[in-house]
Amino acid sequence: MVNNFSKKAVALGVLVAASAMAAGAFASDKTEPRSDIYKDKFSKQYNSWHDTAKSTENTDLLAADPNLVILWAGYGFAKDYNAPRGHMYAVTDVRNTLRTGAPRSADDGPMPMACWSCKSPDVPRMIEEQGESGYFTGKWFKGGAEITNTIGCSDCHEKGSPKLRVSRPFAERAFETIGKPFDKASHADKQSMVCGQCHVEYYFEKVDGRKGFVKFPWDDGVTVEKMEAYYDKLDFADWTNKISKTPMLKAQHPGYETWSLSVHGQNNVTCVDCHMPKVTNAEGKRFTDHKVGNPFDRFEETCARCHSASKETMLGQYEAGKQKVKELKARAEEQLVHAHFEAGAAWAAGASADEMKPILTDIRHAQWRWDYAIASHGVYAHNPTEALRILGSAVEIAGNARIKLAQLLSAKGVKQPVAIPDISTKAKAQAAVGLDMTKLVSEKEAFKKEVLPVWDAEAKKREATYK
Ligand code: HEC
Ligand code: HEC
Ligand code: HEC
Ligand code: HEC
Repeated sequence: MVNNFSKKAVALGVLVAASAMAAGAFASDKTEPRSDIYKDKFSKQYNSWHDTAKSTENTDLLAADPNLVILWAGYGFAKDYNAPRGHMYAVTDVRNTLRTGAPRSADDGPMPMACWSCKSPDVPRMIEEQGESGYFTGKWFKGGAEITNTIGCSDCHEKGSPKLRVSRPFAERAFETIGKPFDKASHADKQSMVCGQCHVEYYFEKVDGRKGFVKFPWDDGVTVEKMEAYYDKLDFADWTNKISKTPMLKAQHPGYETWSLSVHGQNNVTCVDCHMPKVTNAEGKRFTDHKVGNPFDRFEETCARCHSASKETMLGQYEAGKQKVKELKARAEEQLVHAHFEAGAAWAAGASADEMKPILTDIRHAQWRWDYAIASHGVYAHNPTEALRILGSAVEIAGNARIKLAQLLSAKGVKQPVAIPDISTKAKAQAAVGLDMTKLVSEKEAFKKEVLPVWDAEAKKREATYK
């Protein structure tokens, strides 16, 4: 018994070593995934990049706003959703979120490989080694031992060089689609495009009958209406809302898009102007601050380079815009929560698919717009005007759904108003949509304890074969 086991272990060890050698043999010469290599050569950039680790706050957005659980009922986001934090946490956070679950093999769900795509320079490395088809094959688990370096130098730079690059072929193609091929772009355009390879709206496309290839839905344009029409034309849905049975769209983070439509975007004030300013250190050396974070923390090097108003004034303007967006966001959510439960009541009263179709289309469009307007996080600063315009349309369309619902519910003899369960906390809302959080959390804890150390050990072994 013991003998058999150790024989197997030896055989397995040989296999692992062989596959590490194979990986070494085909290792990409375009991407160095280990940012630590540049610690001494580019110490100022390296140290400021490393300082993104200081942005630790990981606000629980479902606890802050339990309505989200209802809007995303039946989808991973209802389990767990936090505000973004420093680039240093990208891999940690995608490993730890309940959305990626507790898989134990490369065929185990719930998420596809595509979920690694904006987390690490190991992604372009794998694509260069295996092609997109190889990289996108299999479930998220498959990438665990491969994708271990957080967002770093090779995501934005050519190997060992300060030259900017777009490292993902699907992003390169999308920029070509909107008439901005990266090689031909101006320096300013490039500065925003390096961020725009990740801070964008995207979806998982079907290629050759296989789902799960990242694509930006930009073929017809980047506005909320153009992308909505694009998804409708494809009859695409990310999931079906569990309460209303609506085929839904989940907006990701269309930050590049909302910025490009803003006054700053139109004047080519880039992401880098505000988030990665040139600064001077104690020895008088000029360099690009790689601590991507809140531009107000470096007001003198960011806003004040172009604006003469004081920090207080500009912060005040920003806060006022944020407040307005938040108010309209809350109104859109209120309408949408009611619409989902009313649609659920209509189904329960025997409404037909034909009767529901126009209502569900309204719910789909209203929620897509609400999501597009807020999911890019920085929209309060980047483009509050566009956010308000879109949220206004979301309120209106959700209102239309509710008018149609009121008529249908009356025709079916359903008493109104339709009752909403207690969703006043995250836990109550999650119980209302049938999530067993205790189970999800305990499975995740076991996964973290048993799987993550194995991934890290395998990655260490593979990287030891790199030159
Ligand atoms: C390889 C993909 C990728 C690239 C390239 C990228 N980001 Fe990010 N960014 C992310 C992810 C993922 C997060 C969220 C990390 C987390 O919360 O764990 C994030 C978080 C952020 C945050 C929040 C930081 C905080 O402390 O709260 C800002 C701001 C940001 N990115 C701006 C930028 C800018 C500006 C650029 C271009 C200079 C850029 N990003 C390039 C993927 C990327
Ligand atoms: C999110 C994208 C991003 C990441 C990650 C990133 N850089 Fe940069 N880097 C930039 C941008 C933008 C510039 C500004 C130069 C430009 O516009 O051409 C820059 C400039 C530089 C320069 C030129 C000198 C200077 O300070 O302007 C060096 C050297 C450099 N980076 C090294 C690194 C190293 C080393 C790492 C990893 C530890 C890294 N960068 C990570 C985007 C990035
Ligand atoms: C005119 C300046 C400016 C430009 C240009 C700009 N941003 Fe921002 N961005 C801000 C400010 C200010 C905030 C709010 C910071 C805060 O409150 O944490 C912000 C917030 C963000 C956030 C959310 C951070 C968080 O923790 O919620 C992300 C992500 C982001 N920006 C990415 C980008 C990207 C990507 C681009 C380019 C496509 C860009 N920004 C262009 C000023 C700018
Ligand atoms: C590289 C220069 C540059 C930087 C840096 C910059 N801005 Fe601007 N900003 C502009 C320009 C150009 C305009 C358009 C001005 C005009 O048309 O009069 C503008 C316009 C604005 C407006 C008016 C927007 C509107 O919708 O009319 C606000 C508010 C603003 N900036 C805030 C900020 C804040 C806050 C920061 C720092 C986080 C910042 N800007 C950083 C150049 C810059």
